Amino acid sequence: MNRALWYRRFGQPEAVLSLETAPLATPAAAQVQVQMIAAPINPSDVIPITGAYAHRVQPPRVAGYEGLGRVVATSDALPFSLGQHVLPLRGDGTWQQRLNCSGQWLVAVPEDIADDIALRGYINPLAARLMLRRWPVRDQQIILTAAGSDCARLLGQWALAGGARRVIGLHRAPQHAPRLRRLGIQPLAMHRESEILRLAAQSSLVFDAVGGRLGGALLAALRPCATLISYGLLSGQPLPVTPGDAMAQRFHLRDALAGMSAADWQAEFAALWPLLRRTQLSPLAPFPLSRWREALMLFYQSGRAVKPLLWLA
Ligand SMILES: NC(=O)c1ccc[n+]([C@@H]2O[C@H](COP(=O)([O-])OP(=O)(O)OC[C@H]3O[C@@H](n4cnc5c(N)ncnc54)[C@H](OP(=O)(O)O)[C@@H]3O)[C@@H](O)[C@H]2O)c1
Repeated sequence: MNRALWYRRFGQPEAVLSLETAPLATPAAAQVQVQMIAAPINPSDVIPITGAYAHRVQPPRVAGYEGLGRVVATSDALPFSLGQHVLPLRGDGTWQQRLNCSGQWLVAVPEDIADDIALRGYINPLAARLMLRRWPVRDQQIILTAAGSDCARLLGQWALAGGARRVIGLHRAPQHAPRLRRLGIQPLAMHRESEILRLAAQSSLVFDAVGGRLGGALLAALRPCATLISYGLLSGQPLPVTPGDAMAQRFHLRDALAGMSAADWQAEFAALWPLLRRTQLSPLAPFPLSRWREALMLFYQSGRAVKPLLWLA
């Protein structure tokens, strides 16, 4: 029997998620069965439950898009072994104890990668890496919004390692300022509007996960040759675009992966692991699956330094 966090309609996650127990099908020939170990709670997991992406994600679904597991059943035709640590991605939701995953997209975790790195080695790292490849930052001054987030902190660390001249991190909760400073990112509280607009006018790139009023103000303050990359709408409001603004471009991991071959997909992870080994990630706060509501409550806390985690083993 398998326990899984399902949503059968859109709504606030605490209202529509339910922990259900059901038998799991035996894996098909090209599938591997994975016993999950742990999965993080990211905005990328939570926002689709609300219906914000109703055009491409429809219930009923098991929630969760990433996490770490170990192989418990496989066929001789697939290059995986029993007990091997893997990321079961791009298939069924990961907020469950067991799932069957297509061998094509299953990612083997190298033995020297610690579990606390591997379990969040997909959504934010791959998004940050693909964005920095598409919009090079060498010698540029860049601005990150929602700078306390894991994705922004990856963007900031890797932008500096890639030669960015200056990285400014706009944060909401004051607790993020010292953490950002330690990473070499210049913190700036997001209510300091005139300072933000002054710095935006000198910047070439903004990586924006907030949208709404802040995103719109940044877009209006940038020079016409600058670019704002919109990769999230944490404000819950769209990015207002006015004629004459700098260029706004959208990034969504799902679109970036659409045409990617299985070989290129595996190559991305081969390149990500060495990068992740030398990157500072936030501490984790694990909760057993039965205490998923408490994990969600922590997720919603502004200023948290930790990433909540569902412990599934
Ligand atoms: N487009 C893509 O393919 C893609 C891929 C990966 C991630 N993302 C996006 O990246 C963003 C961050 O994800 P994550 O997993 O890194 O998040 P996270 O580590 O869970 O952190 C969430 C952060 O969001 C901040 N926040 C929430 N609402 C905010 C608001 N209205 N204004 C300003 N800050 C706000 C919080 O700031 P405080 O603590 O200061 O309150 C918190 O630091 C999300 O929007 C996610 O959807 C997009």
